[in-house]
Amino acid sequence: MKLVVAITGASGAKLGLKFIQYLPKEVEAFVVISKSAIKALKLEENIDIKKELKQRENTHIFKETQIEAPIASGSFKTDKMIIIPCSQNTLAKCAVGISDNLITRAFTVMHKEKREVVIACREMPLSTIALENMLKLSKVGVIIAPPVIGYYSKQQTLEQMENFLIGKWYDLLKIDHDLYERWK
Ligand SMILES: Cc1cc2nc3c(=O)[nH]c(=O)nc-3n(C[C@H](O)[C@H](O)[C@H](O)COP(=O)(O)O)c2cc1C
Repeated sequence: MKLVVAITGASGAKLGLKFIQYLPKEVEAFVVISKSAIKALKLEENIDIKKELKQRENTHIFKETQIEAPIASGSFKTDKMIIIPCSQNTLAKCAVGISDNLITRAFTVMHKEKREVVIACREMPLSTIALENMLKLSKVGVIIAPPVIGYYSKQQTLEQMENFLIGKWYDLLKIDHDLYERWK
């Protein structure tokens, strides 16, 4: 599977990093990291994301300014995309069709080519504008899947909670995993 993963500057950008690190080897990841995501990761986690991702094979990393990247064109075959986490800024741009960087352009491409997109938007509380943007995108087939934890798989630690969320996103993208205990 060729998977586009965009990480934007919302809180919990670390989830995007872990999502990529846990991907099965055979998933080819095309990763775009926004400038704000780099900043948020540094401030929240003191993480240099590019350094962390260098260790994963089958991974191509792009800056948001690299508008010439293959994923900016519909003629380049990819299967699915996830924006994780998705800031309200990027959510709003996706909802109105703005394609001003590689993340929003890649979304526009996926959407026009009728390929699957999952958006993990993060904000608390959610404004009416954010809810309207999510509804609009949901109505055109985008899967809106914010990082909302469930307690049924009995997580005890922050790591287990994060694994639960990543497992739920993998479920949506049909990626096999064993990251959380399913309800029986
Ligand atoms: C540490 C930190 C946490 C942030 N958390 C959020 C958030 O949870 N949701 C959000 O919409 N914006 C959040 N922001 C603000 C965004 O980074 C900002 O709106 C930025 O313009 C988003 O740009 P991008 O969509 O290109 O990544 C946060 C910023 C920082 C520095």
